[in-house]
Amino acid sequence: MARIETLVADITTLDVDAIVNAANSTLLGGGGVDGAIHRAAGPELLAECRTLGGCETGQAKITGGYRLLARHVIHTVGPVWLGGNRREPELLTSCYETSLRLGAEHGCKTMAFPAISTGVYGYPADLAASVAVKTLTRVLADLTDIQTVTLVAFDEGSHSHLLTALGRAEN
Ligand code: AR6
Repeated sequence: MARIETLVADITTLDVDAIVNAANSTLLGGGGVDGAIHRAAGPELLAECRTLGGCETGQAKITGGYRLLARHVIHTVGPVWLGGNRREPELLTSCYETSLRLGAEHGCKTMAFPAISTGVYGYPADLAASVAVKTLTRVLADLTDIQTVTLVAFDEGSHSHLLTALGRAEN
């Protein structure tokens, strides 16, 4: 099975086959990691995104990486946290699963994910880390061509949630 790694980094700097973007349903850019990815990839990314017709929550669409080191960007739309009873866990699970399967279909062997929904969308970082690790562990068991998936934290606080979730998965 693929290795699951964690890293504290700016996801736009990573040399992987695909980085995942925590986008919104327009796919036309925004703040947070989405803004950083569009700035680093250049205006050609927005031009391609304009052709995609948006994306539903829990789904994902793929584009080129343009000026990024990453060959592809997989844009997924996480749920807005509304307290946890509005299908947020199911939708976040779907973001990770759909993005992994789309990457695998495009021959990606290395992929990196940010902590989807845990910024502007307000998903509690500890719960989101647990969804990420559980979903990766389950889905990677059948995606045997993927070698490494990196869960990227932007700060030490989110990193500690990822390490806790991974520790739980190993025990
Ligand atoms: N590299 C890695 N992680 C980052 C980076 C970066 N360069 N920048 C931020 N993060 P957010 P969401 C972390 O708000 O909650 C946008 O406007 C950040 O610390 O980017 O899914 C979209 O257009 C946090 O842990 O995404 C949508 O409208 C995580 O990435 C909306 O925000 C996600 O935070 C999506 O909200």
